[in-house]
Amino acid sequence: MKIGVFDSGVGGLSVAGAIQKALPEHEIVLREDKANLPYGTKSPEQLLVLVMPIMQGMAAEGCKVIVVACNTVTTSIIEELRTHVAVPLLGMEPMVQPASMLTKTGTIAVFATPTTLRSTRYNWLKSIYCENIAVIEPDCSTWSKMVEDAVVDRKQIEKNVQEALDSNADVIVLGCTHYHWIEDLIKEIANNKAEVIQPEQPVIAELKRVLAQLS
Ligand code: DGL
Repeated sequence: MKIGVFDSGVGGLSVAGAIQKALPEHEIVLREDKANLPYGTKSPEQLLVLVMPIMQGMAAEGCKVIVVACNTVTTSIIEELRTHVAVPLLGMEPMVQPASMLTKTGTIAVFATPTTLRSTRYNWLKSIYCENIAVIEPDCSTWSKMVEDAVVDRKQIEKNVQEALDSNADVIVLGCTHYHWIEDLIKEIANNKAEVIQPEQPVIAELKRVLAQLS
């Protein structure tokens, strides 16, 4: 079966790789929109204009399900996309609820794009699951471009991880798929003082459930 994977750039490649590994019998169709990257500073209106035709094109091409491997798109416009795209869309969003259950210090850090942090969906998640939990949001506004261009600035990453640790966060949520490429570096810097989590495996589990229903 054709499984679509979409992101603005290399975040999609990382998720597509994990899906292909978990589901080798399926064909992965990866679409990116590098011409318009970064998405993380765009408005929901701008994102809708860019992403809607791509999703509709993927469905027309025969993708039976599409993984929206972009937290920015998921948290900003997935509901609108769902009303106009004829196949199931699986989103990826910051793991706020799991983080709220894992934390022992009562403080979590979310690394995400400015548009994700401003989104209604993300702020709803925080209001429901983090009523009594402090949420640190270090400035990662340049990170997706940094990862896309493969010029990873260790100092910038150290600064944000340190900000999280200094605030007593014991869970770091990777809320942008581009950051999956620097997950090992973030873990190394966090040095077991904070657990680093991202939604790749939960999304693959959900994808398996959807595929079972479709076949
Ligand atoms: N990878 C995308 C995400 O998960 C955003 C990258 C970008 O800024 O284009 O949010």
